[in-house]
Amino acid sequence: MKIVLSGIRSTGHLHLGNYFGALKNFTQLQHQAKCYFFIADLHSLTTHPKSEEFHSNVKIILSEYLACGLDPEKSSLYVQSSVPEVSELYVLLNMLSYKGELERTASFKDKVRLNPNNVNAGLLTYPVLMAADILVHRANWVPVGKDQEQHLEITRLLARRFNKLYDVDVFPEPEAYNFGNNLVKIPGLDGSGKMGKSEGNGIYLIDDQKTITKKVMRAVTDSGPTTPGSPMSPEITNLFTLLSVVSEPQVVSYFREQYDKCTIRYGDLKKQLAADICKHTLPIRARIEEIFNDNAYLKYVIEKGTSEARASAEATMKLVREAVGFKLF
Ligand code: TRP
Repeated sequence: MKIVLSGIRSTGHLHLGNYFGALKNFTQLQHQAKCYFFIADLHSLTTHPKSEEFHSNVKIILSEYLACGLDPEKSSLYVQSSVPEVSELYVLLNMLSYKGELERTASFKDKVRLNPNNVNAGLLTYPVLMAADILVHRANWVPVGKDQEQHLEITRLLARRFNKLYDVDVFPEPEAYNFGNNLVKIPGLDGSGKMGKSEGNGIYLIDDQKTITKKVMRAVTDSGPTTPGSPMSPEITNLFTLLSVVSEPQVVSYFREQYDKCTIRYGDLKKQLAADICKHTLPIRARIEEIFNDNAYLKYVIEKGTSEARASAEATMKLVREAVGFKLF
């Protein structure tokens, strides 16, 4: 059986893009493969989050993961820092990672540009820690977006380098897993590209009805179509893309016709869009709250997931230590 691994940073909330782009599909995937889902709290330390907020950030993401349908009976859910084998492998992989190649990573260059006063070594070696996350389970598939592909490339490089240096076949080369062509990129509400945490253009699964309606009603539009058949602006295309994800096909074609006849009222389209988004997210929001307040359940989920993840990681590390030449006296 294939092994799948996916991680998410521990700060922020899940948004519609996370849900329709990844989590909704993970719920299917967990029936077809052995899945590990973890919260990357070590990675989040590169930006020095407050320790008082650290645990609740993790708890929020975990509750959101579960509310989206990740099943702890099928998959292993854990927090990165609770699996020390990850940190151990990270140290070893650091010895095979070169400053030059890490400095060339696009994400590193972006972060340096955005935050020139916090260029710490953890930031430089972010992809090495990510490689450790993946390789510690000898994962085959990693569902990641375009922005993470370069990191996956580094993971493959390190896997090959380790195998070659020690003349072993410990690590398979993981592949990016995409959910086929039916995967829609969820756009933001600001007319720009995709919905993102850092972009501030998102609808979050924990948003209430009022917040969602307000956000959608404020979405950027244009001045409306004037001649039938004229090309659609990116802002309106984005609204139609969102509509096609959350609404019934008849609803989409109704507004499409109105657009083509130049009789569309964007206010009506937005009202419909907000209502249909709520249909998907409000039940999830209710589950998030319920799960978040159920400490006994969260404890059960994490203890189970952590022990499964550690068993898998420990089996890998045995091979790794042997390959490197560590021996007990
Ligand atoms: N870097 C990923 C992100 O920013 C999160 C992540 C950390 C991850 N380790 C991973 C994703 C391992 C997949 C596999 O979204």
